[in-house]
Amino acid sequence: MDVFEAIRRRRSVRTFSAQKIEREKILQILEAGRLAPSSSNRQAWHFVVVDAPALIEQIPDTAPAGTRRIISFVGKAPLVIVGCCTKALTHYLAQLTGHENHLIDVSIAMTQMTLAATGLGIGTCWVGWFGESRLRNLLKLPRKYKAVALLVMGYPAEPSTEEAIGGIPATPRKTLEDIVSHNRFGERY
Ligand SMILES: Cc1cc2nc3c(=O)[nH]c(=O)nc-3n(C[C@H](O)[C@H](O)[C@H](O)COP(=O)(O)O)c2cc1C
Repeated sequence: MDVFEAIRRRRSVRTFSAQKIEREKILQILEAGRLAPSSSNRQAWHFVVVDAPALIEQIPDTAPAGTRRIISFVGKAPLVIVGCCTKALTHYLAQLTGHENHLIDVSIAMTQMTLAATGLGIGTCWVGWFGESRLRNLLKLPRKYKAVALLVMGYPAEPSTEEAIGGIPATPRKTLEDIVSHNRFGERY
């Protein structure tokens, strides 16, 4: 599958079959993240591969009080990759530049993972709705790491089609006209 096809076919998949993802494929997905660019090539990231059902089913409990159901699907997923970055660096760099490259770095790596997974027929869903400190306790993350996002993944419960992984219809997007300017903000490209 070429990159553009993977970009086009990726969907947020939230229901998975019971089929486990083969270790070789998980390593390929991780490799797609490892090769990602990062600010000054710092690679200040760490990825925790969680496949123990007893841990995965507790992840929804980390969500803010009363909102567990928003990510209840996570508890039934076969695999969760937790994207982390160095917390110390987070504060230091953000103070210097006013923006947070380390968060961008982890996000790029995880984006590459989603596309690699799509190419392998595996569905993914980004999850940001989790409680960071509760998740840190659950997974025993060292203090210096911050959990940035989760990538929930598995083989889709529904068959994939030419159009989409997991056969899920596309969610709407703004038009290029809506989101692109030329030279100065608001001038049409
Ligand atoms: C940073 C980020 C956080 C997200 N968090 C959640 C989440 O907590 N729960 C969820 O069900 N979907 C989550 N999503 C998935 C989005 O809802 C989804 O990407 C969006 O609706 C577009 O649909 P698509 O991915 O199928 O194209 C998240 C996506 C991103 C990029």
